[in-house]
Amino acid sequence: MTIRAATEEDVDATLDLFEAVVNEGTWMGAEPGFDRNERRGRFLASLTEDRCTQLVAMTDGGEIVGMLNLEVAPYGVAGLGMCVARVWRRRGVGGALVEGAVDAARRLGAHKLSLQVWPHNEAALRLYARHGFVEEGRLRRHYRRRNGELWDAVMMGLVLEEENA
Ligand SMILES: CC(C)(COP(=O)(O)OP(=O)(O)OC[C@H]1O[C@@H](n2cnc3c(N)ncnc32)[C@H](O)[C@@H]1OP(=O)(O)O)[C@@H](O)C(=O)NCCC(=O)NCCS
Repeated sequence: MTIRAATEEDVDATLDLFEAVVNEGTWMGAEPGFDRNERRGRFLASLTEDRCTQLVAMTDGGEIVGMLNLEVAPYGVAGLGMCVARVWRRRGVGGALVEGAVDAARRLGAHKLSLQVWPHNEAALRLYARHGFVEEGRLRRHYRRRNGELWDAVMMGLVLEEENA
C-alpha cells in the first residue's frame, strides 16, 4: 500500500470510494444523494490549490482504498476529512493517511490540524487520539441531518507548534 498525492486521474476512483462510505450512512458529514458533480469540481479544483492536499492510499494492484483531504485556512489551521474502504479497515490504511496528513500540513506551513467527528464514530475517535489529536470541545445539536435529527460533533485538534517564536 502506498500513500501518494492524488492526481486528476484519481477523480472517479476517489468519488466512488467517497460515495460508498457516504452510503454506509453513519460516518460522514455528507449524506447519500450528495451532489457528485459538485464534489468532482471541488476535488479537481483542490489539486491546483497550494493550500490543499489530497492524499490517496493505493494498493499494489492500483486500487484506491483510502483518501484524505486537507485544506489550510488563511489563519494556518489545516482541516481534514478522510475515509477508508470498508473491507480495508483496521489494516493501517487510516493511520498511514493521518501520518501523511501531518507531514503535508507541516509542509504547507500549518501550525495545527483540526477536524470534526461524530460522537458515535469510535473508530475515528480512536484513530485520531492514537495520532496525538485531543478533544477540544463538542458542538451540541449542531448539524441538521436530512432525516431532521440534530447531531453533535466532537472537535479534535493536533497542535504542531506549541511555542510562540
Ligand atoms: C476511521 C477510519 C478512517 C479508520 O481507518 P482504518 O484504516 O481502519 O484505521 P487503522 O487500521 O489505521 O487503525 C488505526 C487505529 O485506529 C483505531 N481504530 C480503527 N478502527 C477501529 C475500530 N473499528 N474500533 C476501535 N478502534 C479502531 C485503533 O486504535 C487502530 O489501531 P489498532 O488497529 O492497532 O488497534 C475508517 O474506519 C473509516 O474510513 N471509517 C468510515 C469513514 C470515517 O469514519 N471517516 C472519518 C470521519 S471523521
